[in-house]
Amino acid sequence: MENYTYSPDESEDSDTNEVMEMVDPSCDPNKPVKVSFEEITSAAYRIKSGIVNTACSKSHMSDLTGMDIYLKKDFLQHTGSFKERGARYAMLMLTEEQRQKGVVAASLGNHALAVCYHGYQLGIPVTVVMPIIAPIMKIQKCRDYNAKVIMEGKDMGEAKKIAIQYSKKNDLTYINGYDNPQIIAGQGTIALEILEQVQDVDAIVVPTGGGGLLAGVAVAIKTLNPNIKIIGVESERCASYNAAMESSKPIFTSIGGTLADGLAVPMIGYNAWETSKNIIDKMVVVKEEWIAVAILRFVELEKCVVEGAGACGLAAILAGQLDEFKGKRVVLILSGGNIDTTILGRCLERGLAADGRLVKCKVTVSDRPGGISELCKLIGSIGVSIKDVIHERAWVTSDVFSVEVKVVCETRDYNHSVELRDLLYSRYKKVRFDNNQFQSQVSSTSDYD
Ligand SMILES: Cc1ncc(COP(=O)(O)O)c(C=O)c1O
Repeated sequence: MENYTYSPDESEDSDTNEVMEMVDPSCDPNKPVKVSFEEITSAAYRIKSGIVNTACSKSHMSDLTGMDIYLKKDFLQHTGSFKERGARYAMLMLTEEQRQKGVVAASLGNHALAVCYHGYQLGIPVTVVMPIIAPIMKIQKCRDYNAKVIMEGKDMGEAKKIAIQYSKKNDLTYINGYDNPQIIAGQGTIALEILEQVQDVDAIVVPTGGGGLLAGVAVAIKTLNPNIKIIGVESERCASYNAAMESSKPIFTSIGGTLADGLAVPMIGYNAWETSKNIIDKMVVVKEEWIAVAILRFVELEKCVVEGAGACGLAAILAGQLDEFKGKRVVLILSGGNIDTTILGRCLERGLAADGRLVKCKVTVSDRPGGISELCKLIGSIGVSIKDVIHERAWVTSDVFSVEVKVVCETRDYNHSVELRDLLYSRYKKVRFDNNQFQSQVSSTSDYD
């Protein structure tokens, strides 16, 4: 790993979008490039031997959602994401001199991994700049491919500036992970595979960060079958495509911590915007809790580990934001599977909580022998399992013979949690549930058991 100190160019002091983007030669805001269908087919031909043609299989969740869902499993690429498509194509298109000198990329992880892996395969030296918030697992994997890793910048916006400056100083080719036209073309190849794998598709749902995947998919699909709807999805914490739609141009938007870390790009690309703006049908912004539930559903029902970004499409469906496609055939792009195991654990717990299957409450019980055990027996009598019990004596204000017990319980489904709540209310005078737990319920598990 290398330390590199970023010093802004004079020309970058301005806050305007235009000046910042001017420094990346492949993304000129004044001359945005519209990626063509021909470039996508050319990319498909060139990358074929180095990319996995991933399965696009029917989902087990079709009954649950009321849609005929197919899952394009691009998390099964070697480095765990679709980003390999664009990365390989962009690197194959380098001149011999550029190949020798090497490339630089800025990324939260998946693009970096893809560039590192294919650089390693093709014998091209790679330097990646990763913001300090990049997931540990992704950072480690980049190092495994012998790449030079620079960890700098608080977010993608900063990492990108550092990478561009580094590329200029060292005369290396900078490969923008979502806006380089070759990257967009490479990402579009996934759409060609989908059309070969699934007949009569009505809609394709595309996780959206900088907009490269969305733009590539939209061009390929609208050229071959304009009737297929293209839906973009982004997290509420980084809704940069939505911001561009509101301003009719790419614009910086503030981004917060999100489970969909792969989508955390503060401004979508100019080329991605130019290519996609008139051909996408809908953009959906999903809430974080639905992303957690979607990750949980993928693990439980599909036996797939999908990262937050890749789970956004299902999140939008579960949240009821794509109900117009009920009865229709919908393809979800599962764009990545690189998730830290600790984050996965947290997502699963959050998913269970949002689902109404992990609930907590405080019950004041008698402090006489048997008081707490009576509560535990009562909870167990309806088949609810206790995950945690904490009891509190010192701060109970009612009487000295009482104790407040905080219990975290795992239930079968939302209705089971309601049964627990009603039972405790009927037996104890002081019971406190956080009512939010009963508002964010997703759907009864009995629907998909
Ligand atoms: C897993 C995953 N899905 C989707 C995206 C979004 O792709 P794009 O930035 O081209 O919109 C990314 C971007 O890094 C990603 O890593």
